[in-house]
This record gives sequence, C-alpha cells and structure tokens, in this order.
Amino acid sequence: MKKIKQSWAEPYKIKMVELLKMTTADQRKKAMKDAGYNTFLLRSEDVYIDLLTDSGTSAMSDRQWAGMMLGDEAYAGSSNFYQLEEVVREVYGYKYLVPTHQGRGAENILSKILIKKGDIVPGNMYFTTTRLHQELAGGKFEDVIIDEAHDPENEFPFKGNIDLDKLKRLIKKHGAKKIPYVSMATSVNMAGGQPISMKNLKELRALTKKHGIKVIHDMTRVAENAYFIQQKEKGYEGRSIRSIVKEICSYTDGATMSAKKDALVNIGGFLAVNDWDVFEEARNMVVVYEGLHTYGGLAGRDMEAMAIGIRESVSDEHIKARIGQVIYLGEKMIEYDVPIVRPIGGHGIFVDAKKFLPHIPQDHFPAQTLAAEMYLDSGVRTMERGVVSAGRKTNGENYYPKLELVRFTIPRRVYTQAHMDVIAESAARVYERRNKIKGLKMVYEPKYLRFFQARFEKL
Ligand code: F0G
Repeated sequence: MKKIKQSWAEPYKIKMVELLKMTTADQRKKAMKDAGYNTFLLRSEDVYIDLLTDSGTSAMSDRQWAGMMLGDEAYAGSSNFYQLEEVVREVYGYKYLVPTHQGRGAENILSKILIKKGDIVPGNMYFTTTRLHQELAGGKFEDVIIDEAHDPENEFPFKGNIDLDKLKRLIKKHGAKKIPYVSMATSVNMAGGQPISMKNLKELRALTKKHGIKVIHDMTRVAENAYFIQQKEKGYEGRSIRSIVKEICSYTDGATMSAKKDALVNIGGFLAVNDWDVFEEARNMVVVYEGLHTYGGLAGRDMEAMAIGIRESVSDEHIKARIGQVIYLGEKMIEYDVPIVRPIGGHGIFVDAKKFLPHIPQDHFPAQTLAAEMYLDSGVRTMERGVVSAGRKTNGENYYPKLELVRFTIPRRVYTQAHMDVIAESAARVYERRNKIKGLKMVYEPKYLRFFQARFEKL
C-alpha cells in the first residue's frame, strides 16, 4: 500500500463565495497594453486570480464581520480602541498603542520621531515604504542582512537574519549615536518572505543593548515568521505560535504594523512602543497625520475587526494551513522546473526572473516582463520585486538589486488548492516559451515608489 500522507487542511469552511471573472487572451492583451505592462495598473475586474499582494486581500472570518457591527464610531475614546489596545498588549506584549490607517502611516510617524538628519538606519533588507520614510526623515538606510539573503538558491533556513559583523562595522564607523535604531523585519518581504531566527534576534538584542541602540520591529508578518521558528529552530518544536510571537516582540523596543497582512483585515495598522516618551510624541503627531490617538484614521469597526483578526492570526492551525498552501504552490512550481527562491517563504512564491529570463538584461526589466506574461497567459496577476521596485537612490542613480523577482503573493483564506494548481500550470506554460519573451522599456516614471504607477512598452 502507498504510504499514507499527513495532509493539512483549512481550519474553516466556506460560507460565502465571490464569483471570479474569466477573460479571453485578446481581452487580456488589450488590458495589459492599456495598463502600460504594469500589473498595478490593471483593473481588478480584469483579473482572474489575484496574487498582486497579500495586503488587505484576506478573507475575514464570520467573527470579524460580526465585530464590524460592534463598531463604536465615537470620535474620541471608542471602546474598540481599548479592545485593540488590550489585544496588542496580550498577544504582542507592547505597552503603548497608536493606531494608524495602515503600516506606512506608522512608519511615517516613527521615522519622524526617531531619525535626525544624517542618521544611519541599518536593517535586514529594505522595504519600499519603510526605507522611503527613513530617507524622507533625513536618514540613510544600510542593508545589514546576511549575504545568503541575496542568493535565491541558498537554502539557509533563516535568510532574514542580520549579519552582526556588518552591524558592528557600521557602529564602529559612524558611532552608536548616529544610529537611532535597527529596523528589523520579521518575514523579510523583499528577500522572499524569509524568517529571522530567535537566536539571531537574541544576539541582536544583546549587541544593541550594549550600545544603547533601539530595535524597531516591522511586525507585518510576525506570525508567519514564528511558524518557521517553530518548524526549524532547535528548542522551539513544541512551542505555540502565540508564545513564539510574544518572545520575538520581547527582544524589541517597538513596532510598526501593517495589519493588512498577518492580522487578517482589509485596512489598518499601528505603532506600538514600550517607551513612554516615544509614545507621547507619537500620540501628538498622529493627530496631525492620521486622526485622533484613539482611532488613527480607522473606523471603530476596523479596530474591532483587527483585534479579532490578531487573535485568529496566532492560532497554530491557521498558520499551518496558511503556509501549507504557499508551500504546496512552491512545490508544484519546482516540479515544473520553474526557478523559485528557496527555501519557500511565508507569504508567497518568488520566481527568480533573472534565471527564468536570462536573455533579458536588468535594464529591460525581466521581472516586470514576467509579471506581464503571467497575466497574458492566464489572467493571474503577480507583482514585480526587482529593479523597478528598488527605485532610485537619493542622488538619482538606480538601485540595482541582486534579487530580480516576481512575487506570487497568496492572500490569506481566499483561494483553494485547485487555484494553486492552475497558477503553477500557467507559470510552467510561460516557462516553456521563455525564449520567445522580449523585455520592456519604461516610458513613464513617477517620482516616488515608481513601481506603483510606472508605464512600459514592449521592446
Ligand atoms: N512593511 C512591510 C514588510 C510590508 O510588506 C508593507 C506593505 C509595509 C511595511 C507597509 O504597509 O501597505 O499597510 O502601508 N506591503 C505591501 C505588499 C504593500 O504588497 O507587500 P502598508
């Protein structure tokens, strides 16, 4: 008899469905051209399976929807705020909470408070909005992630780790006073959703403590990071996701959160800190940029849905199925020889466009090209994470990132295993005709975060 597999399954059943629209090849050709070969500029009604992002695209639970009806839409002192504050303390352990409309709202406030002109902000790989806010506040981002993170084929299990020697060298060169904090992300997005280990975090805490440097945690996908620690790090095998998440947060001084990912809501975020002085300034500043300190740009109902989502997000069954689905898709891609970033990360599959389209130089945007080709093949919408996303330095020169990737991001609790099959088969079809694919040229470039609105033409 065949060996019996131990499959995972979704820890929920489906109560309502949203119908998808199918398109023809001709319709997609026109839609892609009209969108300037930028998947961000497609209309969602022209998309079949939407893997643009896992941000704000999750399905809320019946409990979260019920929570929406408990919205206390008072301008000040909404009971949903106090509920959210309690959940943030309980699940993450941070003392003080400032809600914001989404992650970048928190990044803006935090960067303005902590960064002075000329400061250095080391981090484990950049994220687009995070780095831009650091730069706009007068800081300079320095990448201190381990070298393995820049190599799509390196199988090291914790490619989100910080290279402490690189950090020590920066401290030595600039002095600790020039470094307000280390920008530490769990589940490093741009590296392919790669986790940081608890061991590395503990060492980071010890080093920064010695020099009086803060650690600010981009905790957007902290629960997904916790899963990899549970599965791969010695000493954490039997530990719950909840307890691992709380331990991670305990080695940091504060956090910015885009609740649109891990926390299973369509909109929302927050800044959470342990330091009263930083909190006081953030509470002052939030009223300028977001809204009163007890709503920060959110409706009461959004805060309620977030509070419930945070609790659901740290359930072991939820995370196991969530990442199980991502791994299922990745393994299908590997079966078809599609080159993907290894190990498979938390929130999506990252296809290595340099390896997929080796004949297209980086100046002709291989990842942008591949994302367009995926849409043309099947109506699956993916996203460029390469030279277009990396943008330009403050002196105007292009960044040329080593990683030139197409992200197949999986929304949480939205698609089924059959959808994963369709996606992998489409990627395999595009791979089969890869030699015929030509690159793109950029014909319009916006000033900030160009990947969102840039336009291209076929070469
Ligand atoms: N930090 C990380 C690691 C993120 O992935 C994002 C958003 C943010 C901060 C900013 O949060 O969008 O709520 O303002 N990432 C989305 C993505 C956009 O598609 O990866 P936001």
